[in-house]
Amino acid sequence: MRQSNVIVDLSSNLSASPAWKRLETHYLSAKYLQMKELFNHDPNRFSKHSIHFEDLLFDYSKNRFTEETLNHLFALARQCNIHQWQERMFSGEKINTTEGRAVLHTALRNRSNTAIYVDGKNVMPMIQSVLDKMKIFSKKVRSGEWKGYTGKEITDVVNIGIGGSDLGPKMICRALSQYQHPRLKIHFLSNVDSAHAERILNQLDPETTLFIVASKTFTTQETRRNAQTAKEWLLNCGAKKQDIAKHFVAVSTNTVEVTKFGIDPNNMFEFWDWVGGRYSLWSAIGLTIVLAIGMPQFIELLEGAHAMDQHFKNMPLEKNIPVIMGLLGIWYNNFFGAESSAVLPYDYYLRELPAYLEQADMESNGKSVDRDGERIDYSTGSIVWGAEGNNGQHAFYQLIHQGTKLIPTDFIIASSTHTGCNQDHRNILVSNFLAQTEALMIGRSRSETREQLASAGVQIKGIEQKIPHMVFDGNQPSNSILLKELNPRTLGSLIAMYEHKIFVQGIVWNLNSYDQWGVELGKHLTEKVLEELQSQKDIYHHDSSTRGLLHQFRNYYTQTAREREAEK
Ligand code: F6P
Repeated sequence: MRQSNVIVDLSSNLSASPAWKRLETHYLSAKYLQMKELFNHDPNRFSKHSIHFEDLLFDYSKNRFTEETLNHLFALARQCNIHQWQERMFSGEKINTTEGRAVLHTALRNRSNTAIYVDGKNVMPMIQSVLDKMKIFSKKVRSGEWKGYTGKEITDVVNIGIGGSDLGPKMICRALSQYQHPRLKIHFLSNVDSAHAERILNQLDPETTLFIVASKTFTTQETRRNAQTAKEWLLNCGAKKQDIAKHFVAVSTNTVEVTKFGIDPNNMFEFWDWVGGRYSLWSAIGLTIVLAIGMPQFIELLEGAHAMDQHFKNMPLEKNIPVIMGLLGIWYNNFFGAESSAVLPYDYYLRELPAYLEQADMESNGKSVDRDGERIDYSTGSIVWGAEGNNGQHAFYQLIHQGTKLIPTDFIIASSTHTGCNQDHRNILVSNFLAQTEALMIGRSRSETREQLASAGVQIKGIEQKIPHMVFDGNQPSNSILLKELNPRTLGSLIAMYEHKIFVQGIVWNLNSYDQWGVELGKHLTEKVLEELQSQKDIYHHDSSTRGLLHQFRNYYTQTAREREAEK
């Protein structure tokens, strides 16, 4: 079954390919598979279908497949030359063809330090030299040697960035906040709504605040505006122009724009166009992370990711966690017609993970033309969403359990907590995690429901009315990802695992997962609309809705200004 909302006149090679066709045929019988029965028939299903990787366990046994399904999926991956594509990415080939760039976030965490070449140049020495610079700078700030303009130690760090220049560092800082330097408070300013800047700046002392302006391009409107506001705030609070160097550093690939903005290039931490924004937390974009948790912990994060890179590169498909995750996602997305997938971390510290993965996955694989620019006739990028457990259970799990949609889920948990002390809380959290994945799979039949109602003393008539509402079909798939502990190394592995899952899906769907042209049109139109919003000239173009809304905004602005004037 193909899923597509777009009208297509071109048939892509993928949906006509032998492996795809075999999966289509197999789906006709596999759609009736009941996981409960699969477990009953095979007592070893868990051990066969779970993989240990260092201190991480990936259990994919609660999914709708047989050995035959897996074989068809692996054949699909082979047909798509997954190994050759891995090799091309890891070796620095320019697989981001629309931007003419290599895709080398893996080089940033290449702890084996083997040479990797882009345009004939080994990139490893420059990566190391930026890491060294980050180490020296972070040591100064963390030790208190780096002083603000009145000679005081830094107490607050504000990361100004958006998208990949915000979500990655924010997610990691929150996840590893137990490692955070006791003196430093870390803030993330991303939204161009001035409320965000005001809220953060109001809490800060200009004498002890350091701003990290994080932007790959340094042309991003929101980041530039927020950085400008922060600079004005600092100067209005009494700092001089020459003090800016003590309070502003930049992380970027664009030295020209950084300098134009007024940040000393000596205070700039460089990275390169072969690092995608949503894959950049491993680069100098991780500077905020280093300030928060220290260089040794950041290196551990890189080590964990590198270990997962090695696993992804070297393990056979049948034992390869990102490959299996990616292929199961395709199985549901393209054959069962699942439109979304949920990420459900049962860990307060991982509460930013769903938002991070939204960008990582949807900006990478939300595409409707293939690498050659041909419109495709199969569904691509899953809609990724989620929230931390248990909160989600009391909000949207109803729909996952009893709604009409199939929603594959990833449940993530760490077995021990760093806050450590309250085992009772932990046990409740863990039992909810386990109970939910089991409930999603086994459901509750009519007879089980009837029995339970009867034993609860409900009258016969009442029982029959209630049963349809209380039956759970079950058979809802989930992956369980269990970490021994949430620490920099396991977190690095976890994030790299998702990055490679996204890669696998992009390869099978024949997409360029590393460009993001879909965000350009809105950016372009914004500039035009901004001009019109600020002028009083008549507007003749646009559709009638946009024009009407624009006029109404201007009217509201004028009315509010008059009212405020009258109140004075
Ligand atoms: O608009 C999307 C995007 O380009 C993302 O890919 C990126 O992470 C974000 O904007 C921020 O870009 P920059 O780091 O260049 O400011």
